[in-house]
Parts: sequence; structure tokens; C-alpha cells
Amino acid sequence: MILATTIDDTRAAIAKARVAGRTIGFIPTMGFLHDGHFSLIDTARTNGADFIVVSIFVNPTQFGPNEDFERYPRDEARDKAVLEGKAVDLLFLPSVGVMYPPGSQTLVHTGAVAQPLEGERRPGHFDGVATVVLKLLNIVQPDLAVFGRKDAQQCAVIERMVRDLDVPVKLVFAETAREDDDLARSSRNSYLSADERAIAPALYRALRAGEVAIRRGIHDSVAIEALMRKAIEESPGLTIDYLAVIDAETFLAPADFRRDILLAGAVKLGRTRLIDNVRIARTSLHFSHL
Ligand code: PAF
Repeated sequence: MILATTIDDTRAAIAKARVAGRTIGFIPTMGFLHDGHFSLIDTARTNGADFIVVSIFVNPTQFGPNEDFERYPRDEARDKAVLEGKAVDLLFLPSVGVMYPPGSQTLVHTGAVAQPLEGERRPGHFDGVATVVLKLLNIVQPDLAVFGRKDAQQCAVIERMVRDLDVPVKLVFAETAREDDDLARSSRNSYLSADERAIAPALYRALRAGEVAIRRGIHDSVAIEALMRKAIEESPGLTIDYLAVIDAETFLAPADFRRDILLAGAVKLGRTRLIDNVRIARTSLHFSHL
């Protein structure tokens, strides 16, 4: 595996791979890698990539002043070793100074899809995400880039940015990787105590309860949100940040249920904030009165 810490070295290695006819697949991460990230690598390969680039960069511009930038889990030595084991071709490991050199002052300004839910609770978060993702895409210039659907709004923001700014990349969104008890895999799960870890799957269970109700024909956002809320309130220790029924494309309240629907939730559990979502494709619902 090539280890590159500068933009020039990264570009030079990728240029060689491209001349050799390789298809570049890119997985941007913030490190502390787990099976969820490895499934993104597999997804890049199944989509035709044969030169896999992974970046590890804990991006300061996407963290608010009272968020967990400082304590975000990091383990560079372990990450390097596991990526070697996964036959990754290039690891890009830039410092903050490489990504944001002194004088750097331009940010991507995200639009409506970045406003609700995470955007409302984490002001500036998606501008930071979009900025770093655009910079990374400009550095790596991959044929395809893979993102996990656990961060559904991040996927929507990036999809919108790529379309709006004519970024020449194919985006691939991979299904959320889950633990045996269905907790969505996340580097932040490492913050959970054993007791909290046992409670954490309640978020996904609540979202699934909402899904079951929709599939049974309850097409009423207020009723679904109340039902999900009740399911969470049955689990002591969880504080609801939001639980929402939204249009999976616009992230607004759905005009009706003939759209792809997203059930999205964020809860606090001790010092940890967990997010998750369930996507319901309109084609998977039956409208008996049609
Ligand atoms: O999802 C993440 O890990 C980050 O938001 C990303 C896409 C690597 C940008 O920093």
C-alpha cells in the first residue's frame, strides 16, 4: 500500500495507476475504521474499481465548537495495518495544514437539503463536509466514490453538490453496515459504555416500527412519528434529538407517500449522539386503491 501525506504524492501515484488503465475507487473516511468502512471498500470493488484509495482525515470544519473533534477516536497505526490487510492501494493521510493551509478561506455553501435535521442541530456541519469532500474529490479525481447510507443527509448533500458543481465522479451509496443486534456501525459507538451499548439498538428498532406501520398502510407522518417516539421512550437513557418522516430526496415533509420515504432519527445516549435511518422505496409500497 502506498502511503501519501501530500497532495502532490497522492496525485502522482494516482496518475500512474490511471496510465496503467486502472479504475480509481475512493472511500473518504475519518479513520478508526470498522466493518462499515470495509464494506464501502468491497462496494467500490464490486462497482468496478481496481485501484482503491482511502483517505483518513478528521475534518475540523465539519465539527461545531462544542462537538467531539478533540476526542473523536483515532488509531492511525491500526488503521494502516487493516488497510494493508484489505489490499488497499493508496492511503491518503493528510494533516490539517495540508488540507487547510494558512490563508485558506473558501467554503462550499450547501443549500436546502442541508438545512433540516442534522443541519439544524449542527450549524455549518454540511458546509464543512461538502468543502472537504469536494477538496478530496479534486485531489483524488476518482472514477467512483463510495459513501455509507447511515449518513443519509450527508449522501443527499454530496449528491446535490456533485450535480450542482459538475463534479466528474460516479457516486455509489452503500447500505448501512450493522452489528448482529442491528446497531448501525459507527466509529462513535466506541464512546458507549457496556450498559449504553445494550440500549443503543433501540433507535433502529423504533425506526423499523415506523417502517412496519407504513408498510401496513398508515400513511400519516404525525402518527408514525408518535409511534417511533413511543418506542424510544420505552428505552430508559435515550433522549430524542429528532425522529422524522421525510421525503428521501428533499429532506422535507413528504407531500404524500408515493415518494421514497426516509425515517430518520438522532438520539443522545450519555455523551454519545447516535443517528440512523430507514429508507422505504415507493416501489416497495402497495397502494391498494390505485
Ligand atoms: O462520513 C465521514 O466519515 C465524513 O463526513 C467524510 C465524508 C469522510 C468527510 O469528512
